[in-house]
Amino acid sequence: MSGSAIPGTPPAPATSAGTAPQRGTERGAWWRGAAIYQVYLRSFADGNGDGIGDLAGLRARLPYLAELGADAIWLNPWYPSPMADGGYDVADYRDIDPVFGTLAEAEKLIEEAHSLGIRTIIDIVPNHGSVEQEWFVRALAAGPGSPERERFWFRDGRGDLPPNDWRSIFGGPAWTRVADGQWYLHLFDPGQPDFNWDAPEVVAEFHDVLRFWLDRGVDGIRIDSAALIVKDFGSPTGADGDLDGVHEIYRGWRRITDSYEDRILIGEVWLPDQERFARYLRPDEMHTAFNFDFLGRAWDARELRASIELTLATHVPIGAPPTWVLSNHDVPRPVTRYGRRVTSFSHADRRDGAPSDAVLGERRARAAALLALALPGSAYVYQGEELGLPEVDDIPGELRQDPIWTRSGRTVPGRDGCRVPLPWSGQEPPFGFGTGEPWLPQPASWKDLTAEAQAADPGSMLNLYRRALRIRRAELGDGVLRWLEAGEDVLAFTRESGLACVVNLGPDPVRLPPHGAVLLASGPLDGDRLPADTAVWLRTG
Ligand code: NOJ
Ligand code: CA
Repeated sequence: MSGSAIPGTPPAPATSAGTAPQRGTERGAWWRGAAIYQVYLRSFADGNGDGIGDLAGLRARLPYLAELGADAIWLNPWYPSPMADGGYDVADYRDIDPVFGTLAEAEKLIEEAHSLGIRTIIDIVPNHGSVEQEWFVRALAAGPGSPERERFWFRDGRGDLPPNDWRSIFGGPAWTRVADGQWYLHLFDPGQPDFNWDAPEVVAEFHDVLRFWLDRGVDGIRIDSAALIVKDFGSPTGADGDLDGVHEIYRGWRRITDSYEDRILIGEVWLPDQERFARYLRPDEMHTAFNFDFLGRAWDARELRASIELTLATHVPIGAPPTWVLSNHDVPRPVTRYGRRVTSFSHADRRDGAPSDAVLGERRARAAALLALALPGSAYVYQGEELGLPEVDDIPGELRQDPIWTRSGRTVPGRDGCRVPLPWSGQEPPFGFGTGEPWLPQPASWKDLTAEAQAADPGSMLNLYRRALRIRRAELGDGVLRWLEAGEDVLAFTRESGLACVVNLGPDPVRLPPHGAVLLASGPLDGDRLPADTAVWLRTG
């Protein structure tokens, strides 16, 4: 990335500037083409032997991330939390959960990451807090009609029924009754009471929280459930989010972010309508947002091409760089998803536990990685994706922690299977994760998937990601693509540097286009033919 360097570090290698419309001062900005590694802290590395990942573990493994080629890390919530939803129930927005470490350690992490050329992005959760957060505790004590309750959505019920029929995204009603008879709204778990964003105090509080972390040197803010925060009780769909009032709130956040140098806002915005989605990326709102359209598509050339074109068509006119996401802590691991009969993903139909062909899934996940990392914009890698970890489908019910499992009446396993602690080294659990027993059990078969084993194997997923990220940093990232003529089962395009990416999603091998060197392939080539479910990066022109 060109653009301003992190203080105290040598400038990172430049990427091609590209010719996409860019917003004045943001031309070449780091975030337009960054490779961002998502750290699910609880499962990354355990530094103190209690079986739970923490800041000490992450700090010790920063060199691994530097070697991998991460430009930035995004950490899921690290705040004090009763963990009703893996930390997305925040009890104190200005501190670190003691299980993860201390505020001083978080500051050290930011500094040490910077010294390795890695930026830090944190997660802020504005839609809801925690039942243990001070405001909520005070609201409960203050009683109906109090100003303390105005910071949340407390309402009287309809007799013994909740105030309306809204459903929680995790299952069950979106309302929970308290001792004095009123109900409070929670679009997620009852442990996550929704804030009332019509209340000026809520707006002011989050401005202060943003400043708190930006002052501590974080480079970006990932905004959780960003489209949901404004509610309309007059409408049956008023819980679905994306109400117009949301944009003024993020304009306020952008003014704060812009008062610091080189900091960004990233939206978690799940919206089927890409025109509506793009409204969040207008020049005075968020810098980027996760591309869930791409993440949800089936392993199918038409589907993926349609998604890429739709993405470019909505981002390019407003000068916002697209992002490319294959997985995160909420969705099944790609090697498992791509090995299933149905390879698309939607929250409404997670298909947890559906049979998967591991060999096919891995082959496709390797090809998908080369596709996602070659596209113009920034890219996300969720921890363990670079190791090709599969979804763990056989976690015993009593060990599952995802509220989706309990709130679905133990019918939907939910997201624990993609959150199993990483295997680092050795032949048996805990595979170097730490010295204690990991908070979720690791499969014995992961002995072949440890970072140590894969570092020693030139053909491993880890080495594919390392090589791809190295090439990407030198010549991909922000910019534009040009489609090449190819068969209907093939995705083929070139980037400004002359690198061509060709992905064969069909059943038969296809002839490679004219080229010089083969830079990288996701699997063995068949002479000058590209086998099924394989991708290649070629030097052309
Ligand atoms: C989206 C987060 O990614 C997910 O993990 C969480 O459960 C919900 N938002 C609620 O905060
Ligand atoms: Ca620990």
